[in-house]
Amino acid sequence: MKPPRTPAAHRVLTLWADAGRAGRFHTTARWWSAPFAELELEVPLAGDILEIGCGHGVFTSYLAITSRARRVVGVDIDADKIQRAERACAGLEPDEATLRFETIPSGTVPRIDGGWRSIVFADVLYLLGRERRAALLAECVEALAPGGLLVIKEVDTTPLLKAKLTYLQELISTKVLRITDGHTLEFASSEELAALLVDLGLSVMAKRIDHGYLHPHCVVLGTKPMRSDLRSDLRSEETTGDSSF
Ligand SMILES: C[S@@+](CC[C@H](N)C(=O)[O-])C[C@H]1O[C@@H](n2cnc3c(N)ncnc32)[C@H](O)[C@@H]1O
Repeated sequence: MKPPRTPAAHRVLTLWADAGRAGRFHTTARWWSAPFAELELEVPLAGDILEIGCGHGVFTSYLAITSRARRVVGVDIDADKIQRAERACAGLEPDEATLRFETIPSGTVPRIDGGWRSIVFADVLYLLGRERRAALLAECVEALAPGGLLVIKEVDTTPLLKAKLTYLQELISTKVLRITDGHTLEFASSEELAALLVDLGLSVMAKRIDHGYLHPHCVVLGTKPMRSDLRSDLRSEETTGDSSF
């Protein structure tokens, strides 16, 4: 559990100051329990950034406020949360952040010309189940620009005690309080996520970002090759005898 420490973190939470007691509590609790300050450091500082499953938009707005060179889009399947995110972020000055939100159908990834510099997930993939998760990540790889970065923040499946606490909390959020939409509850280990990204052709690294937190937070980073057609280019140059390299 960590309090907001930087001016940007405090600025984000002031956006929800008029969101009612429940809205303020949710966004503040989310900040204290999720390693958003650590996660932001993994996201490219500039370019088109997509956050899938942005919820109320706490991390989305933090990404946009911490670097004006980021053009950030937050999407979610929950139209109500997107409306609340839009209402809160309407409080931003035009020169403070480049940010917008959109409701999307489950399983879809918005496309832009040239592809996204980065696509980010913060605690979303455990709600999808194995098959939908794999299909959505494959879509993400297609939607990334060459050299683009997939940033996946999830909770790991070890150590067992921390993982069990997370499972219990999420069970209450999804099945009892119903504050989170999702198909299922199925946590994947950082190793499983990393293997999935390797299979999709990305260069991968994974690390823990849970120091000082109750939950076993981890981040898995996957970089798309700059030119996926490089091998076939080389092969066709070999056959045509072109040696301009
Ligand atoms: C635990 S919340 C995390 C919200 C936000 N990323 C954060 O860190 O505060 C999970 C979010 O994922 C969204 N979600 C679930 N399945 C989704 C899907 N298939 N596509 C996009 N969003 C999804 C839910 O509506 C919910 O807002």
